[in-house]
Amino acid sequence: MNIRLATANDLMGMQACNLNNLPENYTLRYYLYHALSWPQLSYVAEDNKGRIVGYILAKMEEDLEEGEEPHGHVTSISVLRSHRRLGLAKKLMIQSQEAMATVYRAAYVSLHVRKSNRAALGLYRDTLGFTLSKTEEKYYHDGEDAYAMRLNFKP
Ligand SMILES: CC(C)(COP(=O)(O)OP(=O)(O)OC[C@H]1O[C@@H](n2cnc3c(N)ncnc32)[C@H](O)[C@@H]1OP(=O)(O)O)[C@@H](O)C(=O)NCCC(=O)NCCS
Repeated sequence: MNIRLATANDLMGMQACNLNNLPENYTLRYYLYHALSWPQLSYVAEDNKGRIVGYILAKMEEDLEEGEEPHGHVTSISVLRSHRRLGLAKKLMIQSQEAMATVYRAAYVSLHVRKSNRAALGLYRDTLGFTLSKTEEKYYHDGEDAYAMRLNFKP
């Protein structure tokens, strides 16, 4: 398995992986917007035949509120069922986080996760050390609440 920076050629593979794994889906145009605006922040995991088996789509937050520090945001991350629990999501997260901190001087990374998403909560909270910043009620289209979480880069 190989983890590398995503390029414009990967966007359809990333979208296919996303459609397979998550109910939150995006237009190809939105993937392209990420790739063009923050080319250092999105990564893919590919198998030995070059098929995309996981991705992280990430950006810098654009609408900063007054006094808010520049920070990264994970728009979406997923790994195909057949390739889970191999450490791929952890590696994808760490690569993107490092680029947020070094390229954009991000103070922290934020993301949203469904309250019921045990696997993702395990990844963010237990493995990577994210903490809960707030609960956003009915954040998802089906009415489920989201946890807004963040991980500080600065000590
Ligand atoms: C969440 C997801 C991305 C994790 O991908 P993964 O590549 O399997 O995760 P990793 O192998 O890197 O796991 C890292 C750690 O996360 C936690 N974790 C991963 N899957 C877990 C599960 N099913 N249950 C509990 N903890 C889990 C564990 O702490 C794991 O460390 P360990 O394997 O040493 O115990 C994957 O399950 C997925 O694609 N789910 C569907 C899409 C999704 O929910 N995306 C997140 C939206 S917010």
